[in-house]
Amino acid sequence: MRILLTGGAGFIGSHTCVELLDAGFEVTIVDNLSNSSETALKRVEEITGKKVSFHKCDILDRDSLKKIFDSEKIDSVIHFAGLKAVGESNEIPLKYFLNNVAGTVVLCEVMAEVGVKNLVFSSSATVYGDPKSVPITEDFPLSATNPYGRSKLMIEEILQDLYKSDNDWNIAMLRYFNPVGAHHSGRIGEDPNGIPNNLLPYIAQVAVGKLKELSIFGNDYNTSDGTGVRDYIHVVDLALGHIKAIDKLKTNPGLVTYNLGTGNGCSVLEMLKAFEKACEKEIPHRFAPRREGDAESCYADSSFAEKELNWKAEKTIDDMCKDMWKWQKNNPDGYK
Ligand code: NAD
Ligand code: UD1
Repeated sequence: MRILLTGGAGFIGSHTCVELLDAGFEVTIVDNLSNSSETALKRVEEITGKKVSFHKCDILDRDSLKKIFDSEKIDSVIHFAGLKAVGESNEIPLKYFLNNVAGTVVLCEVMAEVGVKNLVFSSSATVYGDPKSVPITEDFPLSATNPYGRSKLMIEEILQDLYKSDNDWNIAMLRYFNPVGAHHSGRIGEDPNGIPNNLLPYIAQVAVGKLKELSIFGNDYNTSDGTGVRDYIHVVDLALGHIKAIDKLKTNPGLVTYNLGTGNGCSVLEMLKAFEKACEKEIPHRFAPRREGDAESCYADSSFAEKELNWKAEKTIDDMCKDMWKWQKNNPDGYK
């Protein structure tokens, strides 16, 4: 069975590609390489000993996309392609709406045309906005605090309308919490452009000597140690969740939505300590004001995914830090 991954050269896509190939699926990748490198796919082939069919193509390019669907027998699509930088989305919102929202519309139009109606979509916990309480279940109220989040919310709504109009579709919307870590081989991992915005890549770059110190955004939150709490999930656990979602689509579930998190909250200081243990160094840090738009605490209730998909995140914070450190140490400049 062949799965097409849009954005498959990226961080989560490349790890999912490894797990799909290891599980016996065939994989086609469509990626414009706007935030990734073909090297990641070479390494996926090296890790798995299997080939991927790669097309450098933008999902907004309808004709090229159609040709790919016509030339390969695709069973299901996992749609990772998208822009994901929150700060940038505030500066250039239209680019986010064009790429993420219009890109999804073009993809779905082509899929409908060729009769491929199984779709797994990369949504995000960002659709819960600033949650009123934790843990978060799938029925919590949804809102957006920035154009990136709004693009995810709009896509979820578009997919609901699409399903209502045509019940032949099977769609799994996966709301990821905070994906971190890397493949245990240390060959593939997250390779952010410029200075990272997210916590783990930032800590890792301080540890490897590329950045001077970590700024901890706020130590006056109402949490166990005053710093922000998140649900960090190992990217390999997340990748395995996609295989379970593909399996679920085979049972014709219609449109389904799942939180993919560990269910455990971890504070910035706890994460820092775990990383210091993994890299056996002290990480210079200082406390800084809160970052605008940050929630105090955000973690999943993932029991629905556990029950329906028979999936549960297994890896610990120590695993995430150990694998992340191996990747960062062996590839201080990412894929460059
Ligand atoms: P990533 O940037 O590493 O991967 C996205 C990939 O999509 C990149 O390879 C990029 O080149 C490609 N792409 C972007 N626009 C494209 C287009 N128009 N046509 C073809 N390819 C295009 O990001 P990631 O962390 O792997 O995230 C994957 C998905 O998961 C994204 O949709 C993201 O919004 C979502 N998500 C990520 C996180 C996270 O923290 N990483 C959290 C929640 C949701
Ligand atoms: C951020 C995005 C969110 C996106 C997610 C992807 C914002 C406001 N939110 O979420 O939309 O889906 O990334 O993973 O950007 N922190 C520091 N110092 C740093 C970086 C982060 O203290 O240099 C803290 C943050 O305040 C937060 C925690 O670390 O408490 C995690 O931050 P981050 O990795 O950016 O993820 P989110 O804020 O959850």
